[in-house]
Parts: sequence; C-alpha cells; structure tokens
Amino acid sequence: MSSNSKQLIAVIGATGQQGGAVVRALQAQGQFKIRALTRHPAKHRGLADEVFEVDLDHPETLKAAFEGAHGVFLVTNAWEPGTDELKQATAAVRAAKEAGVQHFIWSTLPDVEAISGGKLRVPHFTDKAKIDRIVKEAGFAHHTFVIAPFFYQNVVGALAPQKQEDGTLGWALPIDRTVRGIHMGDIRELGNIVAGAFAHPDQTGNGEYLPLVGDFMSFNEIVDTLNRQGHEFSFKQVPSEVFASLFPGAAEVAAMFAYFQAHTYLGSDSRDRIALANKIAGRQPTKFSTWARVNFPVHASA
Ligand SMILES: NC(=O)c1ccc[n+]([C@@H]2O[C@H](COP(=O)([O-])OP(=O)(O)OC[C@H]3O[C@@H](n4cnc5c(N)ncnc54)[C@H](OP(=O)(O)O)[C@@H]3O)[C@@H](O)[C@H]2O)c1
Repeated sequence: MSSNSKQLIAVIGATGQQGGAVVRALQAQGQFKIRALTRHPAKHRGLADEVFEVDLDHPETLKAAFEGAHGVFLVTNAWEPGTDELKQATAAVRAAKEAGVQHFIWSTLPDVEAISGGKLRVPHFTDKAKIDRIVKEAGFAHHTFVIAPFFYQNVVGALAPQKQEDGTLGWALPIDRTVRGIHMGDIRELGNIVAGAFAHPDQTGNGEYLPLVGDFMSFNEIVDTLNRQGHEFSFKQVPSEVFASLFPGAAEVAAMFAYFQAHTYLGSDSRDRIALANKIAGRQPTKFSTWARVNFPVHASA
C-alpha cells in the first residue's frame, strides 16, 4: 500500500519512551502512516512520516495535530512540571473526537485509590485511571487501554542503585523485599501492543485493557537476578514514613511501594489481559534477566 493510501496514526509523546516505542513499532509494522507529535518539531525532523507541533497545555494546537488521523495514541507525562493529566487528556479526547478519530488508545494505570479503599494516594496512577471513563464515554468507534509496567529502565534511571550508609551500592526502599508485587517490563516493547491494537480493533477496540508485563518480581528477585550476573547490590527496607520525608514527592513514591506490596502493581489478577496483550503484540515480552544482561552490564555499576 502506498504511503498516501495508508490510514494515519497520530502519536503523542513520540519523542519519549512510550510514544517513541509506539512510533518504532508502527514503523516496523508498516501498516499505517505515522504523525509524530511534539512541542519541538524542529528538533525532531525525520522522526516519522510527519512531525507536527502539539502542546497538550494549548488545546488549540490539537485540531491540526489530529486532522485526518484514523488513530491516536495518548500518554501524558505526570513528571513534567505543571502537568494536569486530567485536563490534558480531556482536551486530547475532545479534539480527537471532533477530528473524527476512529480508534483512541490511552496509556493508563490502575486506580490505586479505589483498589486500596482510599488508603493510598498515588496521583500519577489514580489520575490516569480517572481518564478511562472520559475515553470510554467519548464514543469513539474503537478505544483501547494499554497499561505501562514498572519500566525495567527505572533500575538504571530514576531508581538506580545508590551508595548506602554501610558503603554498599543498592536500594533502601519502603517495601518488603520478599513480596512479589511488581509487574515490570521493557517499556520499548509497549509499542508492539499498541501497533497490534491499532491493527486489530476487532479484538482490542471495545475498551480492552492490555498490560505489558515481561516479569513479575519481588525486590529479592530483582537483586538476586542482578547479583547472579555479577553485581553486588544490597537491599534494605526502610519505614514508609522515614522514606516519605527524604525528598519532595517521596510520600507519593512511598505510597506507590506500599500499594505494590499490598495489592501488586496491576492491582488484580490480570492473567487474561496479559495473555491478550501478548497475543496482540505477536510476541512474548523480554524477561528482566535477559534485559539486564544487555542493558545493565556489570561495569555500569562498578
Ligand atoms: N517509570 C515508570 O515505571 C512508569 C510506569 C508506568 C507509567 N509511567 C508514566 O509514563 C509517563 C511518562 O511517559 P514516558 O516515560 O514515555 O515519558 P518521557 O520519556 O519522559 O517523555 C515525555 C513525553 O511527553 C511529551 N510531553 C510532555 N509534556 C507535553 C505537552 N504539554 N504536550 C505535548 N507533549 C508533551 C514529551 O514531548 P516533547 O518534549 O517532545 O514535547 C515527551 O515525548 C508518566 O506519566 C508516568 O507516570 C511511568
């Protein structure tokens, strides 16, 4: 099919981890034309078939961004200062509907507040979950939810091992190291699920939830896996209230670990959803040990 007759997918966050994965998977699949959306198009020329400017905080930019699009992938970035995920996503859903978009895919997370009976506040999860209803009620011909896992990339990024008081390199976190509660994955593989969902709206487009899960682990298993590969990481559990006072935003991180421990990352038995996601992606996601061997070599932590 020539590029002009292909249906168009507009990808928010195309310069980031999730949206970038979506762009690359759609490119590899070859079925759709891709419009990458970014606040800085001049910096990202050549990223996709088209690169358009969009700013979720300026809804007037969304009209042109979604014009002519068959599908939209939306992710919002909770960590970008000043971001109101609900406001941004509401504007994107409205603009997509007005532009005649047929298939809307939203990268959501579980509703921690509901799952924990109001005990735990993790806004970067719950705020995303609250957007699901808006997507559902917008009346797209097809809509799909994908659930990003705890990125493997966190252990070499935001949650990289730190020098501890006893001189070891490792983690001091508010979670029981023996509890298997973390659904994890290589975020670069989220794109396979999203591309598969756009290609199979009959199987995914009635509001299905598709989580990416490469592994399901406790911190003991994470540390043991890395140490078997030659690292010498330590792990110490710290009380939640101590951790919560360590840095701005630490209370939310502490609540997030408390949630993983009490309810698991996905918050419910998700075996059927994971199986559907893997089927739609057309492959089994990479296990943590395989990912770590390549992406967390021993000299990186020495
Ligand atoms: N780390 C984890 O384990 C984990 C797990 C699940 C979910 N998440 C969620 O993942 C999300 C972040 O996704 P990511 O890792 O893919 O982000 P990322 O790599 O940091 O990239 C952020 C993307 O968001 C775009 N963006 C930010 N503000 C924007 C705005 N106002 N208008 C348009 N685009 C905007 C940026 O585009 P430009 O800069 O090019 O404009 C960029 O492409 C967060 O909400 C987080 O809660 C993280």
